[in-house]
Amino acid sequence: MSMAAQGAPGYQLPWVEKYRPRRLADVVGNAATIERLQAIEANGNCPHLLVSGLPGIGKTTSVHCLAHALLGDAYKEAVLELNASDDRGIDVVRNKIKVFAQKKVSLPPNRHKIIILDEADSMTPGAQQALRRTMEIYAPTTRFCFACNQSNKIIEPIQSRCAILRFGRVSDEEVLRRLLEICEAEKVQYSDEGLAAVVFTAEGDMRQAINNLQSTWTGLGFVSPDHVFQVCDQPHPLVVREILEHCHAGRVDEALDKLDEVWELGYSCLDIVTTLFRVVKTMDSLPESVQLDFIRAIGWTHMRTLEGVATHLQLSGLIARLSQTAMDPAHLSL
Ligand SMILES: Nc1ncnc2c1ncn2[C@@H]1O[C@H](COP(=O)(O)OP(=O)(O)O)[C@@H](O)[C@H]1O
Ligand SMILES: [Mg+2]
Repeated sequence: MSMAAQGAPGYQLPWVEKYRPRRLADVVGNAATIERLQAIEANGNCPHLLVSGLPGIGKTTSVHCLAHALLGDAYKEAVLELNASDDRGIDVVRNKIKVFAQKKVSLPPNRHKIIILDEADSMTPGAQQALRRTMEIYAPTTRFCFACNQSNKIIEPIQSRCAILRFGRVSDEEVLRRLLEICEAEKVQYSDEGLAAVVFTAEGDMRQAINNLQSTWTGLGFVSPDHVFQVCDQPHPLVVREILEHCHAGRVDEALDKLDEVWELGYSCLDIVTTLFRVVKTMDSLPESVQLDFIRAIGWTHMRTLEGVATHLQLSGLIARLSQTAMDPAHLSL
């Protein structure tokens, strides 16, 4: 970051960029995968790589860290990066990528030019097909790094030419630790419950966690659960938890009243069903068999909602079923 940017009043770099790890060692989570990348970094010989996993967990960052570590000052000249916002049709593959692959760049021994194709699953199969030969012909001088969310959208012949690395979700503890570091650096005022709420809303997506932290802090000046759920616009898990507790106690009227409260705020059926699921998973106070029955019932409602019946009636039916499940004598004996 330039000093000018730092000094400009009122200017704030998005924290996801400001705190983007620069070295592999700084990437949080996925220890085994990062170790494999570090082994490549140490050895210098980068194979064709295919990195896959959910959004916001450090795929793009890791690939860039690796390329920087391998190429250092030559990065500018020796790396071609194309992501989903660039045109990557067959013509580009045939021209731009090929021209880059043919370009002469002087590099230290045992180093290669790197072509980063980010969000590669959005490339058409045709464009992917056109890459096969290029990958082979120029392999002595040029290596490809693909990053994608779904590796099954990458055609088989490319997969078989690559070392495949999978990124998993970052654990809640790891997300929390990272958020604490950022809070410290940015002098953010927060409550522990507030940070827990940020972690809850992010569901293992580090980018979302950092963004939600920043929007809550800059928008409302304090990171508390209420502020977080206000900014992130999700049904408040504590209210949703109350609904489930009423159901478990068989208090169907109270449960329906609470449901109406959430519904009146304008949340969609899908928002509410997915929050019900995420909350019930964390309710260790429920007997396990009840928890499982609840999850089954919520799952069915999720399916019906996705099939198009996203109504208040659908949710009321769910609440009735949950209240009944809990009244089942089989569970009362627990
Ligand atoms: N594992 C991680 N460790 C630290 N920061 C991360 C991690 N994953 C994501 N981030 C943060 O989220 C931002 C986006 O990460 P990125 O690597 O682009 O995600 P994606 O997996 O979608 O490619 C980064 O700039 C960084 O601030
Ligand atoms: Mg990415």
